[in-house]
Amino acid sequence: MNNLNQPLSLKNGKVIKNRIFKGAMSEQITKGNRPDLAYAELYGAWANGGAGVLVTGNVMVDYTALGSADDVVIEDERDLDLLKAWAKAGTANDTVLLMQINHPGKQSPKDLSPVPVAPSSVALGGAVAGFFNKPRALSENEILDLIKRFAKAAHVAEKAGFSGVQIHAAHGYLISQFLSPIHNVRDDKWGGSLENRMRFLVEVYRAMRAATSSDFIIAVKLNSADFQKGGFSEEESVQVVECLVKEGIDLVEISGGNYEAPAMLDGVKESTKKREAYFLDYAQKVRSVCTVPLVITGGFRSQTAMSEAVASGVLDMVGLAKPFALLPDLPNRIFGGTYQTLTTPQPRLGVAKLDKMLGSMVEMNWYMHQMKLISQGKQPNPNKSAWGIFFAMLVAQGKGAFRRERA
Ligand SMILES: Cc1cc2nc3c(=O)[nH]c(=O)nc-3n(C[C@H](O)[C@H](O)[C@H](O)COP(=O)(O)O)c2cc1C
Repeated sequence: MNNLNQPLSLKNGKVIKNRIFKGAMSEQITKGNRPDLAYAELYGAWANGGAGVLVTGNVMVDYTALGSADDVVIEDERDLDLLKAWAKAGTANDTVLLMQINHPGKQSPKDLSPVPVAPSSVALGGAVAGFFNKPRALSENEILDLIKRFAKAAHVAEKAGFSGVQIHAAHGYLISQFLSPIHNVRDDKWGGSLENRMRFLVEVYRAMRAATSSDFIIAVKLNSADFQKGGFSEEESVQVVECLVKEGIDLVEISGGNYEAPAMLDGVKESTKKREAYFLDYAQKVRSVCTVPLVITGGFRSQTAMSEAVASGVLDMVGLAKPFALLPDLPNRIFGGTYQTLTTPQPRLGVAKLDKMLGSMVEMNWYMHQMKLISQGKQPNPNKSAWGIFFAMLVAQGKGAFRRERA
């Protein structure tokens, strides 16, 4: 038997049927912020494709704080019926379906947030700085309100029939901003020491636990590090995992980077890319404290690398994102013996100036286009040109096409 096809038990007794984990990809497959039936179509295809776990693209907790214009938002039960249809399709075929819950903090593009919120009033830097406004610092009451919003979204997700939720604490969004000593310079109990910087994450976890049943899965996606000098480090990340495991988290997924240093999309250095899994070194460091299922996402492509990683014991599940936009039945292909590896394209326009500014946005939209095709019952189109995506972005969004897309 293929070692990727072995079941895995969570501490609440739930069994994940195999070791393949579809990481979150913001879908942007319909206009607006409702989980239209296209979501059920897309997740039905993925559930039938054989993954053990499917994580949804990030679902936001506030209509006024979006990472992308067409993010799904949950503030209340107004879309419960649509969420039920999504959950039913995504849990078919004994699939564990986790809703990723997020708040973008300052990583909310200029045209969506004139004044975004963040732990501190520290602007984003680097190449992406021009796409985002300088944030204002959250008040204590606003922090407490946000914790309630995360808990409410988890409660609604359970009511709709999702197997669990995943707290998005990675990639430079609000929770990750709280964790970072660069982005969080508060001098109250929400900033300063690591214990204080992780307080928001821990309180979000506790509030979600209190708002849901004991067998509802609560997972987290955390950065191994931010890959920035003076930022959230591997040592701190290990301590956060240790704390969350003690608190009772069910599963930990590791990624890395943020908009300023996007390690999650490109990996860190050439040698790491060759080895496929970007964050494997960190997995070795965190393994001893992570006694719950550990997932590493980023770079896995070949079945050999996936099988070896699971066999090594440093992780329990392999996380993949982009490959699922091209091969929704990738797990079935592995188990059927018809999959070896896949190259995931990095579509670019071929004009240096444009690519520098917009290359990663075109790439993200290219993968979103593939998800849209699947949600319409069509086959993905790996030959879709980057220029085709670029013009579609212009037509669909006008000026907003130049906003930074998420990861
Ligand atoms: C189109 C697209 C959307 C993404 N949206 C999210 C998201 O909503 N939440 C998240 O945690 N990661 C998101 N990611 C990052 C992936 O989950 C994953 O960490 C990254 O793509 C690396 O994995 P891969 O090499 O297997 O693609 C997104 C990636 C892509 C390509």
